Amino acid sequence: MTDKYTQMVSHGLGRDIARKLGLPQPVVLRRHQPGQPIITGPVLVQGSTAGADALAAALLLWDLDVRRHAVPKEKLGAIVLVLDELSRPEDLERPVLSAAASLRDLSPNARVVTLSRQAATAGSPAAAAARQGVDGLLRSLAKELRSGATGNGIVLAEDVSVTSASTLGALRFFLSGRSAFVDGQFLAVTSAEGHLPEDVDKPLAGKVAVVTGAARGIGAAIARTLYRDGATLIVVDIPAAGDHLADVANEVRGTALQLDISREDAGQRIIDHAVERYGRLDIVIHNAGITRDKLLANMDQGRWSSVIGVNIAAQLRINEALLGSEHFRDAPRIVSVASTSGIAGNRGQSNYAASKGGVMGMVRATAPLLAVHGGSINAVAPGFIETEMTSRIPLATREIARRLNSLQQGGKPADVAEAIAFLASDAAGGISGEVLRVCGQNLVGA
Ligand code: NAI
Repeated sequence: MTDKYTQMVSHGLGRDIARKLGLPQPVVLRRHQPGQPIITGPVLVQGSTAGADALAAALLLWDLDVRRHAVPKEKLGAIVLVLDELSRPEDLERPVLSAAASLRDLSPNARVVTLSRQAATAGSPAAAAARQGVDGLLRSLAKELRSGATGNGIVLAEDVSVTSASTLGALRFFLSGRSAFVDGQFLAVTSAEGHLPEDVDKPLAGKVAVVTGAARGIGAAIARTLYRDGATLIVVDIPAAGDHLADVANEVRGTALQLDISREDAGQRIIDHAVERYGRLDIVIHNAGITRDKLLANMDQGRWSSVIGVNIAAQLRINEALLGSEHFRDAPRIVSVASTSGIAGNRGQSNYAASKGGVMGMVRATAPLLAVHGGSINAVAPGFIETEMTSRIPLATREIARRLNSLQQGGKPADVAEAIAFLASDAAGGISGEVLRVCGQNLVGA
């Protein structure tokens, strides 16, 4: 599960050889470590609107070294490009070309983040064109950045300010090492809900969280990350995975619940366990999932129904129980694990892609139901992640799959876990019904 190639070409002779031969040159990504600064190096806030001024002022409160104008040749940690008042495509030129002049000064693992407004609610075709233009601009820029640098965007609903809690929460996530494998993506801030944590190192303090499929892989990484962020954990997996589940539960000082999530009463069992042990339930992470790959022409009923049953039907049934429970009403948060297969499709995975597409549809439609209780629901769609599952892919296929993204490497389970931990936090309370890809800007071909 280690990517030895990335280690080899990250420095010294290996790097020189890869450069001469024109081979992919992935670098070891900057990942979040508790206690480390959000980002090192100055943050250049580009843009001439009142929103840009307000944002620069807000970033100063995080002890960042904020610049409103570039200093020639100075190395930068990040560029934040504020494009919140576009009314026609020509408005892009000045701020974008100003930012472009600083791109060569970005440090390795730097960040570029755009802030703009959603195109769908623009007041005119010209404003919609300008706003939608940011999409193509950012995704192209992300493909041009090198040395572990990433580009992502935050899209604000009309009534959401540039300094709302979730705008700042999303910006902090994108600037930090928590978003190491998120690249070329947009997060929409849909409302002014949410608030920033008192303790930035323990954003989930006081929350009780359930993680399904937590005995191994991405689920175990999610449990560890939520625990690090201060949550009390209930880890769920099938009885056959009981020993591994108990190990994870001990590691995160939580409790294990052996449960097949496709059981009719799974939702109620989860609620009862949480209320009996901890008196509350705040966060549910739907991570458990299975693959039963076959070309559709050869698909049998067992493969189809088991994948739909575990990956989406079980989540729908559990959510129904949660939504009907008086114990899930205090700003509750649900995060589901989807997949880029559900966006682009994947040969041999029609059942899996249908289930993961289903997860994304479910998330969008459930958001208004949770909003009634100040809650949120989102999905994370991982691309190629280095797990036991992907280590079994034949070498040549695996090498192609893991290099076909802007960061030229696979992600780690912890990268998926970081995105989920952010979406489960109150700092993301104004983000709901969204799907965030954690795929290094995988060339999904959709
Ligand atoms: P994994 O197979 O290593 O772990 C899945 C866990 O879910 C296992 O512990 C399994 O026992 C549990 N599980 C399966 N059916 C269950 C049921 N009915 N009830 C309770 N627990 C059940 O998988 P991995 O790689 O950690 O994937 C986790 C999630 O991420 C899945 O939803 C998967 O579809 C998704 N994903 C994974 C990607 C990857 O590259 N590994 C890429 C995209 C999505």
